[in-house]
Amino acid sequence: MRNSATAFAPASVGNVAIGFDILGHTVEAIGDRVQVTRTATPGVTIRAITGVAVDLPLEAEKNTAGRALLSMVQDEKLDFGFEMTIDKGIPLGSGLGGSAASAVAAVVAGNALLATPLSKLQLLKYAMKGEAVASGSVHVDNIAPSLFGGLVLTVGVDHPRTKQIPVPPGIKAVLVHPHMFLSTKEARGILSKTVEMSDLVWQCANLAGFISACYTNDLDMIRDAFEDVIIERQRQTLIPGFKDVKAAAVAHGALGCSISGAGPTVFAWCEEAKADAIRADMVAAFAAHGLESDSWISSIEQTGARVID
Ligand code: HSE
Repeated sequence: MRNSATAFAPASVGNVAIGFDILGHTVEAIGDRVQVTRTATPGVTIRAITGVAVDLPLEAEKNTAGRALLSMVQDEKLDFGFEMTIDKGIPLGSGLGGSAASAVAAVVAGNALLATPLSKLQLLKYAMKGEAVASGSVHVDNIAPSLFGGLVLTVGVDHPRTKQIPVPPGIKAVLVHPHMFLSTKEARGILSKTVEMSDLVWQCANLAGFISACYTNDLDMIRDAFEDVIIERQRQTLIPGFKDVKAAAVAHGALGCSISGAGPTVFAWCEEAKADAIRADMVAAFAAHGLESDSWISSIEQTGARVID
């Protein structure tokens, strides 16, 4: 049996505009790596955190990756434990699913060291416990795509069921991450607890339209349905220049543009030929508001977390 494994888990776009907390897709451009080694006694120790975000708790209980693996050790009643090193490729508070990716990479690496590996659905449940440490709530829209890959819909929390939704060929995601930190807890804390019935109907129609359009390669329908009428309008003031960045993407023919997860990254879906121009103008729109940014153009691969060493 192996004594050590390293896993990579990709970043992800949560919500995908119309699927708050239930829909997300992978971003293959960046991700987190976790190296896990077996130890003689049950428990989890974090040896080091390296990469683009090191200001994270080293106590396993308080760390997303640590908490996820600890849940595995406890619930599976393992008679051994794990020591881990987390290498962050995803900036903290970026809206790119960094806490989810660390939790997913940890359970995928840990799973490679079990005598009888667990199913992906079991790994999903352990990773969800890790994600809850960072955001203060249990949601799966980053965990599920990071683990399974592609555009993933999750139904249910206690007994989650996931579905990989086909993405029309040639679609790219443009991501622009302005250099600012936005706490997921804060971005969730400002949300109203109630929703207008008319907005709920509109959002449900958009989600249903978006998913069915993905199955039927109907880009016009994706464009019409790609509008979050509940969350985005509440959060947009947290991101300087958001309206201009979105307008820039739409002006160049993006199928849609919204906040990635809790923000501040803004993402747009588009046909491949338009991606470079959309990216350039989104970056310029943030710059006009005094924000430097990193940007990526990503395919929406059906590849999720994997053991790489
Ligand atoms: N669905 C979550 C949110 C993603 O928008 O708050 C953040 O982790």
